[in-house]
Amino acid sequence: MASTRGQFSSKSGFILAASGSAVGLGNIWGFPTNAAENGGGAFVLIYFVLAFCLAYPALMAELIIGRHAKSNMANALQKISNGKISKNIGRLTGFYAITTATLILSFYGIVAGWMLAYLLEPLSTTVGLTSTSTWLTEFSRSRNLLFSGLFIALTTIVIRAGVEQGIEKWSCRLMPSMLALMMALIIYVMLQEGALEGLKLYLIPDFNQISDPKLIASALGQAFFSLSLGVGTMLIYGSYLSPNENLTTMGAIVTLVDSSIAFLAGLLVIPAIFVAQQKGLTIYNETGHLMAGPDLIFQTLPSLFQGMEAAGLVISLVFFSLMTIAALTSSISMLEVPVSYAIENHNLHRHKAAWLIGTITFVISSFIIMNFDPLFGLVITLTTEYSQPLLGFMMCIFATWVWHRDQILSEIRNGHPRIEVSLFWKVWPGYVRYCCPLLILIMLAQTIINH
Ligand code: PHE
Repeated sequence: MASTRGQFSSKSGFILAASGSAVGLGNIWGFPTNAAENGGGAFVLIYFVLAFCLAYPALMAELIIGRHAKSNMANALQKISNGKISKNIGRLTGFYAITTATLILSFYGIVAGWMLAYLLEPLSTTVGLTSTSTWLTEFSRSRNLLFSGLFIALTTIVIRAGVEQGIEKWSCRLMPSMLALMMALIIYVMLQEGALEGLKLYLIPDFNQISDPKLIASALGQAFFSLSLGVGTMLIYGSYLSPNENLTTMGAIVTLVDSSIAFLAGLLVIPAIFVAQQKGLTIYNETGHLMAGPDLIFQTLPSLFQGMEAAGLVISLVFFSLMTIAALTSSISMLEVPVSYAIENHNLHRHKAAWLIGTITFVISSFIIMNFDPLFGLVITLTTEYSQPLLGFMMCIFATWVWHRDQILSEIRNGHPRIEVSLFWKVWPGYVRYCCPLLILIMLAQTIINH
């Protein structure tokens, strides 16, 4: 076992790192487009309710287990189990989570690689490298391999430097820059013609859709992905948190930051779609739905930027920097999951573990790139729509059915001595024991039915 474990040096270090994990492509791309497809304001409303009523309690389960066990998920779930069977199930669940985190990183790395390529495009256009610009923005194996490799290497370099010098330092640098870039873009887009129409769609709820099971399932899936739940990222970040911190508040702040940034991203992306329409671009696809998938990010928005000429170059640079930064603070948390396991259970040095697992992830990404059509969508569906909720379900079961209530209490008493008389303690244990698992199962059933 590695002797010295890393630890976040400050409260804000943890908050920025955990929010950095949560805020990613899921917020800036997933949330606004999900909202646009599912009744605008109605989706936003349901999302906020679910984020606080379901995702937050599940996040707390991860943070509490992590800080108590001070180790990766496979060990942590064993540690809180008493019987032989539950210990084995705990270990297997841990492996499942580690594999899922690695697979998520392997597809996330491909998408983030596209962001990197699009980030370089305005630069190569400015210096007159037209054929390079075309290569950067056209879908090809060579581009995908190179840029996913670059992005995974960047992720590895941060993780190699450790908890304080890597994760915390970079999250503290990148998160404020990301927010500044986002605010600047929102202001710019809001001043353009057509923005108001997008704003209306985004903010005025279409109450007819509010009870649509598809909307609820999408909002729940989005909340789970966005808060990085189930795969052990929050558990491992919790394990690096000092016992003196108040966990319930920390979790609430992370949920609030994550939801607020998702909300802000909506203020940027949806109005931008309507600005594009105002400029004569098509924003609805053949089926009459608003553009949402890769076409939106890699066609509609870039065409919009191009139409803005000189300003467009800067806007494009800012937009894709924002995407790349958001992706990086999330990808480091994904890589930390298998890396911490390799360090703690196989005694590997952090540098070695980071490069080894970074390389394995890149090999998986390359395999997906070489077999893009059958694999890309499949890996996303299996990991985010099935595995993440299933793992979230297991986490709730372990926290409240397997682990002792007294031990949970004594863990969260650290940093919050009066927790016993708080509303949190009155509601949370029963809630995570009965409601969360049930709701997650309903959501999973919905997903299966919808497919
Ligand atoms: N929360 C990240 C996002 O919104 C994705 C993520 C999923 C990060 C799982 C870590 C683990 O993009």
